[in-house]
Amino acid sequence: MRIELRGVAKRFGKVEALRGVDVEIPLGRRVALVGPNGSGKSTLIRGLLGLIRCEGSIQLDGRRPYEDRIEIARKLAYVPQVAPALGASVAEVVELVGVTRDLQPGRVAEVSARLELDLAAIAARPFRNLSGGMKQKLLLAIAFAVRPSLLVMDEPTASLDYRARERFFELCEELEPSVTVIFCSHRGDEFVRLSEVVIALEDGRVAYNGPVDSYTAAAVEAVAS
Ligand SMILES: Nc1ncnc2c1ncn2[C@@H]1O[C@H](COP(=O)(O)OP(=O)(O)OP(=O)(O)O)[C@@H](O)[C@H]1O
Ligand SMILES: [Mg+2]
Repeated sequence: MRIELRGVAKRFGKVEALRGVDVEIPLGRRVALVGPNGSGKSTLIRGLLGLIRCEGSIQLDGRRPYEDRIEIARKLAYVPQVAPALGASVAEVVELVGVTRDLQPGRVAEVSARLELDLAAIAARPFRNLSGGMKQKLLLAIAFAVRPSLLVMDEPTASLDYRARERFFELCEELEPSVTVIFCSHRGDEFVRLSEVVIALEDGRVAYNGPVDSYTAAAVEAVAS
């Protein structure tokens, strides 16, 4: 999926969470969205997915995510920073995804197993009672299972144990080249491994948008000086 943002702004009362963001992301690009706490990363992601309405223009393959969300929802997958407190059981959540996204039976269980999550063992448990890492594994498994055109992940490995993190990296590396991936991260090792491009936000503005190597070189210099 191809993404174009022009003059994107978002205000929450007195807080200007995004101020004039211009970004173009070609099909299949792997993008790390970085920046300090409160710099606007999650807000930008939520705007991209049509979960909130922003000023300016946001286009995903020429469609507007907020206004046209019904048409594009099936092409997107999103792993939020904080998992929703769903009262439904794991089996119900997985079944709903299977029906709405037309998945082969067992597809989510297959990807869950790759992340070392045994879906059968937790099927009857309410989603909200799972541990933080288990929720993150299940949401990641669903996101990969639905084979999206745009995969958006907000701090995807924050709660994962070491082995699951490695498995997650493998899943990312196996994605079809046409899948556009945007993920927020505070971890240098993660974006060096997974992204081609870094977009750094500072105070709601784009402070850097370019190759990952020049970003990390500049960061190393800043620390050294
Ligand atoms: N629903 C909301 N209502 C009010 N203010 C909000 C809301 N969502 C975000 N903000 C504010 O917008 C700013 C940007 O927040 P955002 O969550 O996008 O930051 P972030 O870069 O994702 O930070 P973090 O690294 O901590 O996840 C912050 O000042 C935040 O308090
Ligand atoms: Mg955030």
